[in-house]
Amino acid sequence: MIRVGVIGCGVISEVYLNNLRAFGIPVAAVADLDPERAASRGAQFQVPALPTDELLADPEIDLVLNLTVPKAHAEIAREALVRGKHVHTEKPLALTAAEAKELVHLANASGLRLGSAPDTFLGSHLQTARKVLDDGWIGEPIGATAFMMSHGPERWHPQPDFFYQAGGGPLFDMGPYYLTALVHLLGPVRRVAGSAQTTFSTRVIGSPNRFGECIPVEVPTHVQGLLEFDGGATGVLITSFDVWHSELPRIEIYGTEGTLAVPDPNFFGGSVRVRRRGADAWSDVPPLFGFSENRRGLAVADMSLAIRDGRSHRATGDLALHVVEVMEAIHISAREGRHVEIASRPSRPEPWPMGYDEAALILDLRGESGRDRA
Ligand SMILES: NC(=O)c1ccc[n+]([C@@H]2O[C@H](COP(=O)([O-])OP(=O)(O)OC[C@H]3O[C@@H](n4cnc5c(N)ncnc54)[C@H](O)[C@@H]3O)[C@@H](O)[C@H]2O)c1
Repeated sequence: MIRVGVIGCGVISEVYLNNLRAFGIPVAAVADLDPERAASRGAQFQVPALPTDELLADPEIDLVLNLTVPKAHAEIAREALVRGKHVHTEKPLALTAAEAKELVHLANASGLRLGSAPDTFLGSHLQTARKVLDDGWIGEPIGATAFMMSHGPERWHPQPDFFYQAGGGPLFDMGPYYLTALVHLLGPVRRVAGSAQTTFSTRVIGSPNRFGECIPVEVPTHVQGLLEFDGGATGVLITSFDVWHSELPRIEIYGTEGTLAVPDPNFFGGSVRVRRRGADAWSDVPPLFGFSENRRGLAVADMSLAIRDGRSHRATGDLALHVVEVMEAIHISAREGRHVEIASRPSRPEPWPMGYDEAALILDLRGESGRDRA
């Protein structure tokens, strides 16, 4: 079993550490720029808290789980790869496609695994949707819409500054969920166009520790993209931190024989619905896979199995690089008023075997699998 070191002990680290424990994946140490935060998370999970440098030098650690803020993702990932560790990082993989590409090359050249969030596409909803699509229930895909309408996270997040700095904004923060889901379903994107605006120049923090504090907005907060997929389908993606209310669906895929409705890709479960041509109502598709609860860290379990079994992992650096390239291109298009071609072409990630669930994963991780393996 690979041993994990976690760098970044903020809000999201708790659910990761809970899930790694539930999967039986050992965490050898945690670290944070803020030693108190590391000490407190370490004490909560009975794991040693180390300075980041010591964690990176620890020969007992095989894989670094990078849960820092976006602007630190590439630097921490690079450092971990240079020290010979596999890396799974929170999204986005990097702030630019050039930086993301460099990380992918470094990992490949070093024979190390690189992966990135989100891993929600490994959840029951998006795996079920993929099965419905691949089995031809809606025919050939024609197009997709994806909408993430919100008013931003500053009302609840204790340190929301990064959401409004480079690497944040609704596209870089939430876009990875939607774009990863779309690429998982429809394959890679070949060309994009975009428009973007910044509606409010400051935001007011709502959480008690910094209540009422104003923070500057340095990135566009209402971003729209047109996507042309390599397979021929086209799509529309809107991500916003400026919208108070919306009734738009999350993701819909339109096919020659019907429509597939996919729930929020920020979660792992939810009802997948399909309505074929001629049907007078939508049908709920029962979940065909496990992992309907918050299982952030599932991709770390998959990577761990992939390393042991010598197969490729699912939430790859290639996929995350593509997502960063698409997001960057939407912003470039918005600034320059032209379509932007996408160079990267990751393959669609391999789906889970039919019916794969948490019990099967845990047996797999223990090497006791009697069922289909991941
Ligand atoms: N909060 C959520 O609901 C949520 C959900 C999904 C994904 N994420 C992603 O997870 C990441 C972390 O989010 P969060 O909400 O936990 O943020 P956070 O601000 O609560 O925690 C980030 C932690 O990283 C530490 N850090 C920053 N730079 C560092 C460095 N160079 N070295 C070591 N530690 C460093 C900070 O001190 C902080 O403790 C972000 O990329 C975010 O997009 C967050």
